[in-house]
Amino acid sequence: MRWTERQQGMLREMGLRVWAPGEAAAPEPVIARVPPPAGSPPLPAPGPAPAPAQAPAPEAPRASPVAGLGWPELRAAVAACRACGLCESRKQTVFGVGHESAHWMIVGEAPGEQEDLQGEPFVGAAGRLLDRMLLALGLTREPAEPARQVFIANTLKCRPPRNRNPEPDELLKCQPFLERQVELVQPRVILAMGRFAIQSLLDSTEPVGRLRGRVHQWRGRPLIVTYHPAYLLRNPVDKARAWADLCLAAQTAEQMAAQHQG
Ligand code: URA
Repeated sequence: MRWTERQQGMLREMGLRVWAPGEAAAPEPVIARVPPPAGSPPLPAPGPAPAPAQAPAPEAPRASPVAGLGWPELRAAVAACRACGLCESRKQTVFGVGHESAHWMIVGEAPGEQEDLQGEPFVGAAGRLLDRMLLALGLTREPAEPARQVFIANTLKCRPPRNRNPEPDELLKCQPFLERQVELVQPRVILAMGRFAIQSLLDSTEPVGRLRGRVHQWRGRPLIVTYHPAYLLRNPVDKARAWADLCLAAQTAEQMAAQHQG
């Protein structure tokens, strides 16, 4: 596969080194030889390494328990999940809402009190702001065609008690659900809102401010980072930046649509 200059730049930003056909192989890493401390027994003369008695079996990649699930099975798996302690305090799980083939997928953090009660993401104050932001782009969570009706999901499907921040272990346990949702929706653009969505999808702890303003990739799909609506309610001065992020996402979705047609 050949990468464009822009894609290579993006991959470099993400710390990935990409080998391209025809490119010389990366040089062998130089391993510094540290002299043994005085008085230690002499090192054996270099020679062929003895064969290990029993080569350890390579660890097979662990398949996610939700890999391959369809929508009904995935919904049932989320509803029945008891993988972390949040199942003890939740009223119900909050799966997500919207078009199952939406062009836009919005990823937030975790259900709050209202979401836990109503079983739908972003129904509180932050949700009202999100709805207005979507409306400004001609998008909605209400039934519409896939170009207009988004799919909204959270990184965590259960409410953390007193709306505390998600724990790393909780994010990890819930991540396969979100990943499967993205795989099923196959969105043309993903909007990751806030640091926990970024942590789950980009595996990065960089702050939003360092990651916004460019197009990232999640398994080959464009992903745009922006501020969480709850943050914007506390810091309205950053709304202009969030709007710029949404415009970048809209532009990216348009480019993807053109590719689908071309
Ligand atoms: N904040 C989120 O990230 N998600 C919700 O569902 C509600 C508030």
